[in-house]
Parts: sequence; C-alpha cells; structure tokens
Amino acid sequence: MLERLQKILSRAGVASRREAETIITAGRVAVNGKVVTELGSKADPDKDRITLDGKPVRLKAERIYLLLYKPAGYVTTLKDPEGRPVVTELLKGIGERVYPVGRLDYNTEGLLFLTNDGDWANRLAHPRHEVEKEYLVKVRGRVNPEQVRRLSEGVELDDGMTAPAKVQLVHESERNSRLTITIHEGRYRQVRRMCEAVSLAVASLKRSRYGFLELGDLRPGEFRRLTPQEVARLAASGSSEK
Ligand code: URA
Repeated sequence: MLERLQKILSRAGVASRREAETIITAGRVAVNGKVVTELGSKADPDKDRITLDGKPVRLKAERIYLLLYKPAGYVTTLKDPEGRPVVTELLKGIGERVYPVGRLDYNTEGLLFLTNDGDWANRLAHPRHEVEKEYLVKVRGRVNPEQVRRLSEGVELDDGMTAPAKVQLVHESERNSRLTITIHEGRYRQVRRMCEAVSLAVASLKRSRYGFLELGDLRPGEFRRLTPQEVARLAASGSSEK
C-alpha cells in the first residue's frame, strides 16, 4: 500500500514526521535507488526499497493482539475457498494484517485471539501450553450421569484418549441440556467429537474462557485489544494457570 514517505520514516522509528520532512528535503532518502526530495512522495514499504543515508529503512509492524467474540457462521482461516465469511472481516479499523491463533469451527462461537506476532501465537498454540479452555455446550435431550462421567474421565477418539476434563451439567430438560466442558488440549473439533463419542448431539458450542480471560461485555462480532499485561500473562501461562 502506498504511503507518504514521511509517514513510513516515522513508523520505522527513524524520525518524527516533522524531522522526516527535513531528512527528505535534504536528499537523504532514496526509493529504489533514486533520491526523493519532494515532500508528499509516496512509496510502498512492502515492495519498494527505501533507504536513509544508503541504509535500508525497515518497518516494524505494530504488534497487535485482539480478543474477538467470534460469531457462529464465520471461518477462522484467512480465506475460504467456499466464499464463506471470514473472521478478519469483522476487524474494522485494524490496519495491520492479523491472523487467528488456533481455530474455532465455522459453527462454533466464542473467544478467539488474533495477532500479527508469530512468536506469541506459536507459544499459545504449543501443546505444552496447557491453558484451560471452557466451552458452553448445548446438547439435545437429557444428559445422564454416565455420559458426564465418561466425558470427565476421558473418551476414546480416533486420535487417542482425551485427557480428563471438568464437566458440569448446568441445565437439563427433555428438549435440551447445557454443559460446561473445560479442557486443556486443543485437538481438532475436540469438544464436538467428545460429545459424539458419548452419543450427545451438539446443538451449539461456545468458547467462553481461555485461561484467565473471558468474553466479558463483548457481543458476537465485537473485539477488543488485549492489554500489554494480558498479552504477557497469556504468554507466561501454562498448566498451573487457571
Ligand atoms: N471443540 C470443537 O469441537 N470445536 C471448536 O471450535 C473448538 C473446540
């Protein structure tokens, strides 16, 4: 994307915008080998080679950490071959490219992190990063104690036994029931497959908590930036974290 050179230089931390103007008019900046002295000239920091006094100017992208309340009916990939809505369409006003940390199914709603910080994302996605994730699950019909016991002790899936989970029945009726299932693994469609394994039909699924973070006042489709403290605490949290 084309941007004014002054802005690129200040974003790169080389100078303030005002100082950048002086630097440009002094003939110290070149774009693709050509000195540019005209203020207001534009360049594309992703494509053009911008130098100051002959040295490359590197843009450090602002690190962005978001907590999104993903609505059902969105995919967590950046592009969907089937043309379905993607979560990044919801991020109005975020100029940087960010991508989801982990995934939630198309039909699952709830807490999803997005970032442009690859190290942070890898840390959270690492299998050793055993943070609790709580899901609210609505299932059809009643739930019997044996199903709750099996879910909490671990069930056999085609990729192996699940680790013990915290399972609470919070509402039960003939029509449908609600459970909270708290797991620290993050296998593909894990909660849905666990329910299927004990013959429970999932009507809806929502991730309501990730470690110490909940959705709070966010409504489906809304997002907020994480605070620097939250970012650091999430990166540091592991199996001892709530
Ligand atoms: N478990 C699932 O089955 N789906 C999700 O999206 C997340 C956890």
